[in-house]
Amino acid sequence: MCKKTYYITTPIYYPSTKLHIGNTYTTVAADAIARFKRLTGYEVMFLTGTDEHGQKIQRIADEKGVTPKEHVDEVVAGIKKLWSLMNISYDKFIRTTDDYHVKAVQDIFKKLHDQGDIYKSSYEGLYCTPCESFWTETQAVDGKCPDCGRPVEKSKEEAYFFKMSRYADRLIKHIEDNPHFIQPESRKNEMLNNFLRPGLQDLCVSRTSFDWGIPVTFDEGHVVYVWIDALSNYITALGYGSDDTELYKKFWPADVHLIGKDILRFHTIYWPIMLMALGLELPKQIFGHGWLLVDGGKMSKSKGNVVDPVTLVEIFGVDAVRYYLLREIPFGSDGIFNNEIFIKKINSDLCNDLGNLLSRTVAMIEKYFDGVVPAQEAPEAIDNELINLALEAPKKVEAFINDLRIPEALESIFELVGRANKYIDETTPWILAKDEDKKKRLGTVLYNLAETLRFSGVLLTAFLPDTARKINEQLEAKNTDWNSLENFRGTVPGTKVVKGDNLFPRIDVDAKLAQLEAIKEAESKLTKREITPIKEEITIDDFEKLDLRVVKVIACEAVKGTKKLLKLKVDLGGEERQVISGIAKNYKPEELVGKNVVLVANLKPVKLRGELSQGMILAASTDDDSLLFVVDPGELPTGSVVR
Ligand code: ME8
Ligand code: MG
Repeated sequence: MCKKTYYITTPIYYPSTKLHIGNTYTTVAADAIARFKRLTGYEVMFLTGTDEHGQKIQRIADEKGVTPKEHVDEVVAGIKKLWSLMNISYDKFIRTTDDYHVKAVQDIFKKLHDQGDIYKSSYEGLYCTPCESFWTETQAVDGKCPDCGRPVEKSKEEAYFFKMSRYADRLIKHIEDNPHFIQPESRKNEMLNNFLRPGLQDLCVSRTSFDWGIPVTFDEGHVVYVWIDALSNYITALGYGSDDTELYKKFWPADVHLIGKDILRFHTIYWPIMLMALGLELPKQIFGHGWLLVDGGKMSKSKGNVVDPVTLVEIFGVDAVRYYLLREIPFGSDGIFNNEIFIKKINSDLCNDLGNLLSRTVAMIEKYFDGVVPAQEAPEAIDNELINLALEAPKKVEAFINDLRIPEALESIFELVGRANKYIDETTPWILAKDEDKKKRLGTVLYNLAETLRFSGVLLTAFLPDTARKINEQLEAKNTDWNSLENFRGTVPGTKVVKGDNLFPRIDVDAKLAQLEAIKEAESKLTKREITPIKEEITIDDFEKLDLRVVKVIACEAVKGTKKLLKLKVDLGGEERQVISGIAKNYKPEELVGKNVVLVANLKPVKLRGELSQGMILAASTDDDSLLFVVDPGELPTGSVVR
């Protein structure tokens, strides 16, 4: 008979910089599910990879002075090393620069064009010349590039578009008819109400302003941009569009695409529509998980709060990190990474509960039975409680994993571990050991503990693979497959146990927190700041065109209905001006009144949110505006020239 198959994917990652603990989360979660499916008898295809094209990658490579391919090769090697460190059991790693992928994407693009789903038109947007990036009105911030903060201009370029609207009704029906297609539920409604029902815009699918991409075969100068390239990986990895489509036939449609919530729209709208257009089946489920946040919010390089999984694994071991990610992040919603909670969790769950259960059990078998697992006599009521909980656990864990509720699955395993520790306290083996008549009863108790540990080891295989192996090794467990959990007799009496190291030595919380703090400190000194590239050279004549003046703020208020904008009235030395400035997040209106600031006085007036803005206030800021200071010209008379 054919084995049941299961196909799970992670997103393919941008090889721009090192991955952080947030990126790592998606892949660790997918790994746990993939391992669990293998354990329970499925033939699994677990796909991950890298999304290597696009302007951003090209720009990073340019800045480093290497080719894009050289840059991605280096980063991809690092990503593969991280996955090996995290014990990620992927079956295939796709790179969008792989030849077979490039060819298949070119064929897909041509087919969609030939059948009229893709048409040529022009892309209009706000263009940032130094960044070579197009932005939409909503992406641009007060008429400025959201990446570099410099002004953008309306611009046009020839581009291909995908007629998304053609398939919208079919997709809406599919989503309504298949309640599990988009999970969690809340995200499904967001897609329907915010994007599909109001009417879909056509999607721009090619670019001519850069060339690090898959060339469109029938129109020189165009490269595929970028979601057709990226999303297709889920089928090209299986050989779709090649001579060998065996894997495709076996595994498509995917059982689940596991992704972060930021890319849900691409996966639940554009991807299904692409598949419909190609006449292919849709994936069974798309699951959008939440963000892994740090105390200060989102992780970002400029805030210096990026958590490096490699450091954590080096100090605490891979399973401690996997445990925290899988157990503490509510699947589907946002979670927090916090060093102190992380360490305390290792101490309480892994060291106290699981580690001690194993070391106590093995130690007692050594002490009372010379290390040989005793036989089990007829169980008493108190034994049955433990035994029944153990026999129920596999079903519970399997049901939770089928719903992708990983924390709950782990919780049921640790419920069993907790029950076994309580069983030791209740049965008091050290008292039974004093009475030769109770030797058989003592044997039964220790057998039940060893067998419960064997259950825990098998159940933990998918989540904490190294720990599961160590448990099995200490118990010399012979039965470690899923079916061996059907009855509570898998431990073989007469087996010699082998005492090993503590699974998770107790951590000194304060000492480790201090160590992590010191590492962070050292790293932030090391990482050289990434400086926004210097713009194209200008002459003194160009600069002379700017008229910069010292002005005094005489009134200031928020622009109604916005969170970013302030309306300032400034005195230019006799003349009054109104200026709109996007600094409301950093300044309260009353903080500015009476201050001198610098105004670009000859900037062409514009209307922002219906308000006239006659010039621009100079400010210095970080890329994300988390820190921003208005330039202070000191106490010069208003109207003074700045040069
Ligand atoms: O989006 N917490 O790649 P990517 C949780 N190439 N998940 C996070 C996270 C955080 N703090 N930060 C990022 C891409 N992620 C595209 C995908 S798929 C055809 C193309 C997740 O490297 C993010 O949601 O920017 C995404 O699932 C994954 O990391 C890769 O992000
Ligand atoms: Mg992203």
